[in-house]
Amino acid sequence: MYDNLLQLINIHKSFPGVKALSGVNLTVRAGQVMALIGENGAGKSTLMKVLTGIYQKDEGEIIYLGNKVNFYGPKSSQEAGIGIVHQELNLIPQLSIAENIFLGREFTNKFGCIDWKKTYAQADKLLAELHLDYDSRRLISDLSIGEPQMVEIAKVLSFNSKVIIMDEPTDALTDTETVSLFKVINKLKKQKGGVVYISHRLKEIFEICDEVTVLRDGQFVGEKKLIN
Ligand SMILES: Nc1ncnc2c1ncn2[C@@H]1O[C@H](COP(=O)(O)OP(=O)(O)O)[C@@H](O)[C@H]1O
Ligand SMILES: [Mg+2]
Repeated sequence: MYDNLLQLINIHKSFPGVKALSGVNLTVRAGQVMALIGENGAGKSTLMKVLTGIYQKDEGEIIYLGNKVNFYGPKSSQEAGIGIVHQELNLIPQLSIAENIFLGREFTNKFGCIDWKKTYAQADKLLAELHLDYDSRRLISDLSIGEPQMVEIAKVLSFNSKVIIMDEPTDALTDTETVSLFKVINKLKKQKGGVVYISHRLKEIFEICDEVTVLRDGQFVGEKKLIN
């Protein structure tokens, strides 16, 4: 038996002219990776945006750590311990890796000024945990394909979230980066965190996920355990 960290129950969401979600359920259990699959347009990203407060649901319930909750923006869900790596990147190209990771929460010294040395050192440490040896002083615009996505992942990990959502995280990653990501996911599982893993890559799903939830055209098709 695994404890439920998070439950989305009977979620409905419409956009003008589109019923994006209709009666969708999703459960995230401690120490488990839940795959979320379905064709393009099935509603996967919308469901995760409803969860993290980017969109407001029309109907349904969100139970997080035993309490009914509703988030009114990504900041509030992040503060509650739900982190999301979006399908689209949210980094500022003109800023460094460290500035992006700690934007708005940089370390300060006793004079109240930003302690850049510490901010860069902490960012380097996070990158090292992901087996990345790039200098956190580098600008995002100077990174090559795959690297910004890893920075985005490092940023989400830096919040020590209880639940982490990864929306098609490996699309831009190299094989080596994917291996590093999977090591991190396994570590999160050992720490009893929960992960939602959105992907259309079945090989990856069988490798890293414990269960799967299937959506089709905004509808909940079912949930199943995976044997791996
Ligand atoms: N902001 C939006 N405004 C209008 N329609 C949207 C918006 N976001 C998503 N949709 C629609 O909702 C449906 C589900 O989209 P999405 O959640 O992105 O699917 P998936 O991530 O599974 O590919 C699609 O029909 C999409 O066009
Ligand atoms: Mg999507």
